[in-house]
Amino acid sequence: MYLTKEEERVLAGEFGEGTQKAFELLVAIGDAYDAEKMIPVSRAHAAASGQEGDLYFVELLANGGARCRVPTSTNPVYDIPYFHKVFDGIPEDQADVARRVMEAYRRVGAIMSWSCVPYLAENIPLAGETVAFSESSATPYVNSVIGARTNREAAQSALAAGVIGKTPLYGLHIKKNRKGTHLVKVDAAPKDEFDYTLLGYYVGKQIGYGIPVFTGMKRQPSTEELINFCAMSNVSGAISMFYILGWAIEASTAEEAFQDDVPEDEITVTDKDLELACDELQTTSGKIDFVMLGCPHYTLKQLEEVAGLLKGRKLHKDVSFWVCTSATGKLLGERDGCVDIIESAGGHVVVDTCIDEPCWFAYKDKVGMTDSPKCAYYRRFKEARVGRLKDCVEAAIRGK
Ligand code: F3S
Repeated sequence: MYLTKEEERVLAGEFGEGTQKAFELLVAIGDAYDAEKMIPVSRAHAAASGQEGDLYFVELLANGGARCRVPTSTNPVYDIPYFHKVFDGIPEDQADVARRVMEAYRRVGAIMSWSCVPYLAENIPLAGETVAFSESSATPYVNSVIGARTNREAAQSALAAGVIGKTPLYGLHIKKNRKGTHLVKVDAAPKDEFDYTLLGYYVGKQIGYGIPVFTGMKRQPSTEELINFCAMSNVSGAISMFYILGWAIEASTAEEAFQDDVPEDEITVTDKDLELACDELQTTSGKIDFVMLGCPHYTLKQLEEVAGLLKGRKLHKDVSFWVCTSATGKLLGERDGCVDIIESAGGHVVVDTCIDEPCWFAYKDKVGMTDSPKCAYYRRFKEARVGRLKDCVEAAIRGK
């Protein structure tokens, strides 16, 4: 791969060991993908977590004096003092890992968003920007809804790109690689976020790795529907980009989306397919110990929906009820009163964390319900039923 004189000096360690390590990773990736050169990125999102695999690399960079050159936001970890209070203590060795991860991201100068939907508030690319975003909903959202360009990064490669301000030129940074691969005829009428969750899950499973081009969508999906579609298509598959014809930012016709080529394959999605996908996700029924919402992090609108369903009601005494959101989401929810309604019913609105964090150790033998197949997949509990928000709330009130 071609490197400029300055890049060669970075690789030789002239700008410090942390920066050198970050660049070594990017060069290795570039070599692996036969990238021609490095290109500048204007922002990055590192899918950090409070786990050892993430700790190693960010500490390596922080200890070597690296600092982010471009805005670099961070995925959820967890608020250790808060969970210590709620669950009577997180195992100290695990809490220590999370503490060190958060500290190391602070030292490299990252934006401590601790949110998996940073593209809504804390770190928003514009159409046409070149960025390096990891996180399953973030990559397809940024490519397909916003029209910026990113590869499907890991936490480490995104952080390295944030530190260097560059990424290798390969994959979805090149126009011809943004070509649609599968035509998806939607003969279903997805009506809410949960239906888009199922659509993402179904299409990801059918296609696996590819760029679907959707036809037949009757209306423009909402922000929350798109977030859920993006996240779930990367639970059952690996969809870094898609086109919804009629609303796609980079293509207004099928010809443009397929770049005048023919699709590799074609599938049709019906309401029945979505129903079957929902059935497939069910692994349990009966009494529940908890309900977990906000995977991906709930927006203000979703917090308001939860509050609307809980207003004047009480959650079952044996059910813990959790709503994960970003710090921004919670602040706005406190201002408009919906956080208070959820908490008055007995629920918790929690920031900076996600179901895939060790802070949920208390649920490892418990059974719950969630509206997110991704939450059910990354489970740190025994089992979870997957259903619509309304049904999750009713189950939390009934206790089963
Ligand atoms: Fe977000 Fe964690 Fe779910 S990162 S999408 S809350 S698994």
